[in-house]
Amino acid sequence: MSGRGALQGQVAIVTGAGRGIGHAVAMALAREEATVVLAARTRQQLAATAAAIREGGGLALAIPTDVTQDAAVEAMVEQAMAELGRVDILVTAAGVASFGPVTSTKPADWDGMLAVNLRAVMVTCRAVLPIMIRQRRGTIINVASVAAQRPIPGAAVYTATKAGVIGFSRVLAEELRAEGVRVGVLVPGAVDTPLWDTIPNSPDRGRMLRPEDVARAAVLMAALPQGASLEELTLLPQGGIL
Ligand SMILES: NC(=O)c1ccc[n+]([C@@H]2O[C@H](COP(=O)([O-])OP(=O)(O)OC[C@H]3O[C@@H](n4cnc5c(N)ncnc54)[C@H](OP(=O)(O)O)[C@@H]3O)[C@@H](O)[C@H]2O)c1
Repeated sequence: MSGRGALQGQVAIVTGAGRGIGHAVAMALAREEATVVLAARTRQQLAATAAAIREGGGLALAIPTDVTQDAAVEAMVEQAMAELGRVDILVTAAGVASFGPVTSTKPADWDGMLAVNLRAVMVTCRAVLPIMIRQRRGTIINVASVAAQRPIPGAAVYTATKAGVIGFSRVLAEELRAEGVRVGVLVPGAVDTPLWDTIPNSPDRGRMLRPEDVARAAVLMAALPQGASLEELTLLPQGGIL
């Protein structure tokens, strides 16, 4: 590493870092010389992301974590602090998606999405706040979705979780504005990731954003000078789909 990365000396936590957007974000933050804490459930995928970062000369710490378990999130943040001494950036890219009309899905089908996409985002943000406030420095980037802005039939519950993330992030940004901690929300359109593998009739994946596109936007938000905050960034594919 050159020592000239935009995030040199900073510690970033990325949830969902095993694959898809989280993987790409973790790789990109590491290329800017942040030390990256990788959190998701699948150990093998975390190990692969960590290995790819180290191959590029970067620093990574994999901490297997189920973000729906509050105690596991607290323990992950504690371990990051114990081993790395600070937390400057949090990117919440852990998420799940399942689609279907409200009439043909059951409330029990909704719980997983609410737990991962909304509640866990709030819990993970809360877990890093005392550290970032103490440091008087921190950037939180929550990953929402364009579904929160444009109604997509079949995506009501997913949309509710993402609209929740946007609302939560807006209020948190105001609560922290005077503390030196900035909160942004990244709002991507369709991205070609493994998330689509099990979804029938997905749009043309060749026309979606690449995870690396989203990662570039996350780096932009994280690397802005401290006095400025990019709070909502909508990133859409240019290939004719949302
Ligand atoms: N792909 C798109 O078109 C798109 C568009 C807009 C927004 N988004 C959002 O972007 C985020 C990332 O999506 P993606 O497309 O990258 O999905 P993905 O490829 O399926 O990756 C999801 C990641 O989240 C992790 N995760 C899921 N449940 C978890 C849990 N309980 N605890 C910890 N980690 C968990 C997964 O790891 P484990 O399963 O190993 O835990 C995986 O690393 C999601 O919030 C998604 O809603 C995606």
